[in-house]
Amino acid sequence: MSLLEDKERAQLFYKYLSKVYDRVNPFIWNEEMRDEALSMLDIEDGDRVLDVGCGTGFGTEGLVRHSDDVHGLDQSVHQLEQAFEKFGDDDRVRFHRGDAERLPFADDAFDVLWSSGSIEYWPNPVAALREFRRAVEPGGQVLVVGPDSPKNSVFERVADAIMLFYDEEEADRMFTEAGFDDVEHRILQRSPTSPRAIATVARVPGE
Ligand SMILES: C[S@@+](CC[C@H](N)C(=O)[O-])C[C@H]1O[C@@H](n2cnc3c(N)ncnc32)[C@H](O)[C@@H]1O
Repeated sequence: MSLLEDKERAQLFYKYLSKVYDRVNPFIWNEEMRDEALSMLDIEDGDRVLDVGCGTGFGTEGLVRHSDDVHGLDQSVHQLEQAFEKFGDDDRVRFHRGDAERLPFADDAFDVLWSSGSIEYWPNPVAALREFRRAVEPGGQVLVVGPDSPKNSVFERVADAIMLFYDEEEADRMFTEAGFDDVEHRILQRSPTSPRAIATVARVPGE
């Protein structure tokens, strides 16, 4: 397991990062990338949408443009405080403290699940993806954005020691093992020299 794929360490990390997150975030994950990932989803007005690892609400902000029933979940109380400052008065959004691997929601509670920039901290991503399949209705979509593997082997080794980095093949393996259908990917990047993100969308089978 890498350094930050540990729930307690990730919470401690975000206790400090939450203070500057919104200022640092746009250098690697900006609105254009978020909107491109959103375009991979078919969200209809009234769809129940869950944002797992919502952090300060950057993904949530994009999701409320498509649905007025959005739930954000995060394990960090410090990140949730920042999100609540932005959306506390907005009755289209509700926040929950919880763990991606043990969602506090009933089976089939959502039509769409979004998770951006969080998978890299989960100790067991396949367990979390199975949870997502359980919480999303058959036929619903799950979209996960995470860091694409560096192509340089030295950077790759350093990156892997810190958190999860993965490529399309690994994303296929994780989503297939978790029981998803129709898995598709898109690489997102702010500029040709900035870090790449991988967005994977898949459908819950059995409609
Ligand atoms: C890089 S931030 C991403 C925030 C937001 N989704 C965005 O797009 O800007 C990662 C978030 O994942 C949360 N996180 C990490 N592990 C988690 C887990 N096991 N369950 C729930 N949230 C988790 C962290 O607390 C943090 O707020």
